[in-house]
Amino acid sequence: MTRQLLIIGSGAAGMLAALEAVSHGVHPVLLTKAELGAGNTGEAQGGLSALTALGVSRGDSVQAHVSDTLNAGAGHCAPHAVSTLCQDSPDLVTRLEALGVHFDRDPAKNYQLGLEAAHSAHRILHIGGDATGKGLVNALGAACRSQQEAGALEIIDHAMATELCVREGRVSAVRYLRDGQQQVRSADAVLVATGGIGQLYQSSTNPAGATGDGIALAARAGAAISDLEFVQFHPTMVDPVKYPGVGMISEAVRGEGAWLINDAGERFMLQIDERAELAPRDVIARAIHAQQLAGYQVFLDARHVEAAQGTGFLAKRFPSITARLAACGLDLAADQIPVTPAQHYLMGGVLTDLEGRSTLPGLYAAGECANSRVHGANRLASNSLLDAMVFARRAIRAMLTDSADQHADLPPTDSRRLPAARTGKPIDLPELQRIATQTLAVYREASALQQTIARLDASTAQAADERTLAELENLLLVARLIAHAALARTQSLGAHYRVENPEPRTGERTSWQLSPTDERQHTDEAKEIFA
Ligand code: SIN
Repeated sequence: MTRQLLIIGSGAAGMLAALEAVSHGVHPVLLTKAELGAGNTGEAQGGLSALTALGVSRGDSVQAHVSDTLNAGAGHCAPHAVSTLCQDSPDLVTRLEALGVHFDRDPAKNYQLGLEAAHSAHRILHIGGDATGKGLVNALGAACRSQQEAGALEIIDHAMATELCVREGRVSAVRYLRDGQQQVRSADAVLVATGGIGQLYQSSTNPAGATGDGIALAARAGAAISDLEFVQFHPTMVDPVKYPGVGMISEAVRGEGAWLINDAGERFMLQIDERAELAPRDVIARAIHAQQLAGYQVFLDARHVEAAQGTGFLAKRFPSITARLAACGLDLAADQIPVTPAQHYLMGGVLTDLEGRSTLPGLYAAGECANSRVHGANRLASNSLLDAMVFARRAIRAMLTDSADQHADLPPTDSRRLPAARTGKPIDLPELQRIATQTLAVYREASALQQTIARLDASTAQAADERTLAELENLLLVARLIAHAALARTQSLGAHYRVENPEPRTGERTSWQLSPTDERQHTDEAKEIFA
């Protein structure tokens, strides 16, 4: 019997999952909040880390990629999940190329492999220099639309999922909001691939739709959520106060040799880590934050790279960044660019096994909203697209064959219940963003976390319309999960830095479930479709 698969989200994970399902002869439904590819994937600059024959000929290996990922993850990754991630990368590249993705190659047709922080080898495939995300969503979007025209894929756009309906202990339908109407669609299995949480912060590299929807939906349905204390801050967002809207500058620019300089002219990373500007992202974000607290401004300086490589090198290698900077009168080849850390990625999410299964039967997760346990406490650069697509493909295969009660069977974690939310003071998005930016950021501190928890656990989301309210409720729930997880992890590790205990210490993975009273009860509409 053909299974009805429903995929929520249309970034790299969602679109590739839909295409994978089509290739297995099923007719999936792809539900997306905006339009195909409008999410985080399209913003990706650096690229896709993967093992290629060219990389192997230059000494790279699966083991080297595994080892770099484990090191960046600060001892908190699941090693077998990381091995799966890295082993699956060559096959993923082959599949993407078959779907029309063209990675950059030199005139001899060899891949142009980039380098990013904490990678021991050049292994980053990119598209259009620094427009990898756009290249991916264009190719995957075109493939999805052609399957839609052929009648093999149903796309429901501008539809915001608002509930995962659970019947007899498994997810069996999705409730969603479209054109102001609530609708319900039943499914044998549901994949959440809704991306990140950037809208929780005043400054983020994520687009507007990154409101933690998949995590909140899964948590309310009863799935375990883990590692939410590990929020990654990208070190080099162009100062959003002076130059609003320019966005981040890819780590690949530092991979080409750019430096971080303070306004006293010091290349401060030399004192902090022997890898200097190519230290892991958490180390660099913290170092910049410390500079700022000490009263310095920080700049990215690539002028010597241009001088060494020749005029026009940076514009050719990073055309999109060059154009965005030019629009506000900055030139990567001639100016020092003011930068600051900004929220970028969430390592934690819906806890999943190697096949994308959550702890709740019928529910699968892939991409940034999932925690496939490959990123540990700090994600290695350019492993996010790889994670999203490797585990999306694996999830679809499992969704087609799993028994009705199959779910992630994972090693025990430190398992906790989020205290029940209390109805309380209204909170709107600017207030929530202010609290998160002040207390759930690069540095965390116990008393500030306690105050945040006291405020958020007794807050009621307030917004002008139903859709905005749904997003704000999702962000509020994610913020509560981050705050509780950050308070519970009293030691620093990777991107989670507790000022009271700065020395990094590994510890157990904590997984969280909502208290039974916070899990969403079936709505009348959902009950109707099960009648
Ligand atoms: C970047 O290009 O710096 C971002 C890449 C990533 O987040 O992996």
